[in-house]
Amino acid sequence: MSPIAIHPVNETAAFPEGYATQPERKSTYKIAQIGADGIGPEVIEAGVQAVHAVAKKVGTFKVDFSELDWSSDRYKKTGSYVPVDYIEILKKHDAIFFGAVGAPDVPDHISLWGLRLAICQPYMYANVRRTKVLPGTSSPLKNLQPGQLDWCIIRENSEGEYAGHGGRSHRSLDHEIGTEVTIFTRTGIRRIARYAFQVAQSRPRKLLNYVTKSNAMRNGMVLWDEVINEVSKEFPDVTMDHMLVDAMTVRMTLHPDSLDTILATNLHADILSDLAAALAGSIGIAPTANIDPSRTMPSMFEPIHGSAFDITGMGIANPVGTFWSACEMLDWLGEHEASKVLMKAVEQTCADGITTKDLGGSANTREVTDAVIQRIRAL
Ligand code: NAI
Ligand code: MG
Repeated sequence: MSPIAIHPVNETAAFPEGYATQPERKSTYKIAQIGADGIGPEVIEAGVQAVHAVAKKVGTFKVDFSELDWSSDRYKKTGSYVPVDYIEILKKHDAIFFGAVGAPDVPDHISLWGLRLAICQPYMYANVRRTKVLPGTSSPLKNLQPGQLDWCIIRENSEGEYAGHGGRSHRSLDHEIGTEVTIFTRTGIRRIARYAFQVAQSRPRKLLNYVTKSNAMRNGMVLWDEVINEVSKEFPDVTMDHMLVDAMTVRMTLHPDSLDTILATNLHADILSDLAAALAGSIGIAPTANIDPSRTMPSMFEPIHGSAFDITGMGIANPVGTFWSACEMLDWLGEHEASKVLMKAVEQTCADGITTKDLGGSANTREVTDAVIQRIRAL
């Protein structure tokens, strides 16, 4: 089991809870590199090379990666995914660059809670998942025109259905009980709503589509509706609409261009963002940013996908989701120029048909990475 850390509460008067703080530009950024399991180390290694290339290209900053061996291998050897002082170790960095966790011989709930949730859940309450169809790739939606699917999903990342509350009793008997208690707090909803409105406000359409299930779930989800409506008054320039989660799957599939910034709970957005990744072409391209808007903790950037046992070690994993996550990381650090250059190089590589098998191409991880680095240098 992971050690239990005590997390101090952050009070930043200048930024009311939920509003994103401004980055502090540096000449060298310290990044914690955690490849972890399966294809994680393969795609993270590719991402590290791309970030070094783009930093060299832009020439105004350097990136210093420190590799941490936190993984299922560590768990199997020592009984823990992370050292006792892992929060203190992470705090010495400006960001965390993460691969994936999960091993065939460790139960998924042990690996996920032992590493990914141990890092993200206490602090990084905003999970940001951008989705669009990259040039040269295709959506399974027929008739989708370029630009019609361009979403930013904001997932509440610290409570809700994944709060970890619950228990089991009467083990192995017929009347065994298992409960998974969904926790919603006014503070938790307000801060994620403020962050989502701020993201919506920063995008050209200034549109927030928020998702609940407040017909069947008549307590916590109704609290969501109430708090979001309160927060909306702070953002009069953002247009807001509300969807029930089941109807949202239909709207995403049939009317993708009616959506822009999408706010949902931990569970709902987890599912909707996998659907979003599939509609955009492949889970292999989708990025994630786990953001602590207060910047008390370094935020964590990772591809959406998992450790993909079926292709581990074959050298064919799509590194695009990791490159895009690196763009998100550079943006969060305030290095917008570098982020743009890297994204442009990735888009050019895809447009030139240099893609892995999951996108219908025949290139391997190495070839896609080399092509991206070549384009960074040429831009
Ligand atoms: P998965 O994302 O690892 O794989 C699903 C399918 O997508 C597989 O066929 C895989 O080959 C393919 N795929 C995934 N990423 C790809 C890439 N970059 N390039 C090409 N193909 C790719 O999901 P799955 O199989 O449900 O989970 C495997 C393990 O990963 C489990 O232990 C699970 O708990 C863990 N997991 C960890 C996550 C994380 O660390 N953030 C997220 C999702 C799953
Ligand atoms: Mg998921």
